[in-house]
Amino acid sequence: MAELTLEDPARRDFLYLATGAVGVVAAAGAIWPLINQMEPDASTLAQATTEVDLTNIAEGQIVTIKWQGKPVFVRHRTAKEIADARATPLSELKDPATDESRAQKPEWLIVVGICTHLGCVPLGHQGKYEGWFCPCHGSVYDTAGRIRQGPAPKNLVLPPYKYTSNTKITIG
Ligand code: FES
Repeated sequence: MAELTLEDPARRDFLYLATGAVGVVAAAGAIWPLINQMEPDASTLAQATTEVDLTNIAEGQIVTIKWQGKPVFVRHRTAKEIADARATPLSELKDPATDESRAQKPEWLIVVGICTHLGCVPLGHQGKYEGWFCPCHGSVYDTAGRIRQGPAPKNLVLPPYKYTSNTKITIG
């Protein structure tokens, strides 16, 4: 059974602690340690897949999951966030991808929470498009996690995941 913990009720983003949590996701804006990806320890390997119970995530919230040593953002998108993403012409995108191709279900966006520039953890609900903003060098992502401004070359990466029920996903 997974458990959610509010880090700061004033913020809409909060951390997700998996059962037997092996660690808490680093503060937003921190460089995600490369060592984590290159030399995963036993506890990291043990989390080759991570199950997420979506019922605990309210509309408008973003939860950060630790998966294989990396942060993964699970975003319960509002109707406006979905509409904004879907109304964006592909011609405006640096790394063109439709919103439909990035979200198996419109209301849930699941992306690896590592900026594709140099690896910082972007901040949710910030930036011009209210998707994510990376404070390290100013990359701006939209509500589909697509790069819109700044030096990052690519959209936030989509991790492999599948729905195991209407309210549960397995990442990995
Ligand atoms: S690491 Fe995100 S903008 Fe450079």
